[in-house]
Amino acid sequence: MDKTLKLKLAFLKGRGKRMKIIVGPASKELAERISNLSGFGSVPVAFKVFPDGESYVRLDGSVQGEDVAIVQTTCPPAQDGRLFQLAFMADAAKRGGAKKVIAFVPYLAYARQDKTFLAGEGISVETVARMLKVAGIDELVTVNIHSESALAQFPFLAKTLSAIPLLAKYFVDKGFKSAFALSPDKGAMYIAQEAQAVLGGDCGHLNKSRDRFTGQTVQTAEGLNVKDQTVIILDDIISTGGTIVGAAKILREQGAKHVFCACVHGLLIGDAEKRILDAGVEEIVGTDSVPGNVSKVSLAPLLSEELKAQK
Ligand code: R5P
Repeated sequence: MDKTLKLKLAFLKGRGKRMKIIVGPASKELAERISNLSGFGSVPVAFKVFPDGESYVRLDGSVQGEDVAIVQTTCPPAQDGRLFQLAFMADAAKRGGAKKVIAFVPYLAYARQDKTFLAGEGISVETVARMLKVAGIDELVTVNIHSESALAQFPFLAKTLSAIPLLAKYFVDKGFKSAFALSPDKGAMYIAQEAQAVLGGDCGHLNKSRDRFTGQTVQTAEGLNVKDQTVIILDDIISTGGTIVGAAKILREQGAKHVFCACVHGLLIGDAEKRILDAGVEEIVGTDSVPGNVSKVSLAPLLSEELKAQK
């Protein structure tokens, strides 16, 4: 189907529904793609950072009487600033007469602190959600949140979508159908299984344990057979890259022929990208939840479908 026809069909699907997309400064390109795919109009946002570091936002269009979706990721760098921009946009939307404010937050900062792991800690992601509620957010949609159970404690309706099928399709389109889908952690085996459903090959997992005081992790493989196989390591987040580097080392020892990695949120802190490639990973693929070098897969189709289904 050609591009114009696709846009026309998307527009017709959204016709009759009233929704405006507020283009968050941290996800400008993604928000515009979602607007094009869904047919819903967009509201640009003027923003700046004052010399003292404080954020300013202004909605550059009317939202009076509208339901609005604010598209704003909250990935590093400046995740705190991005969270505040999101809160300020929600407040501005409500003050501007918006009926319902839905936050589309592809990467939700602080989602990994979803428990009190050690005495004396708080639950950061719940604090974030409560702040967003006070700012005016009525619902939240995120993508591959680290632990779905965290959403149950949010003070509004919240859901997480999965970008794993889109990542797996990227590899199918590159000719790697039947590649082995590997999760670097047993707890994330569902990710490897979702990828396997698209790739059609085998899937499996490594085991990973973390020392909560030092942050050090230990990875092991049990009963894994990847000899001469093309393996795609899939994870929700790549942060320092340590997990992928460790997994790649194990895969090399096990005789894997080709190793790729894919993640939904490619934070790639410091020299993570170089360390992963130096570890023998042939390509790193992420999504535009974190815009950057590896964001080769767009979440726009996933989020625009969700947006159209919202009404
Ligand atoms: C944690 O359990 C996540 O699923 C990721 O595996 C983790 O955040 C990756 O972190 P890093 O890249 O620092 O090893």
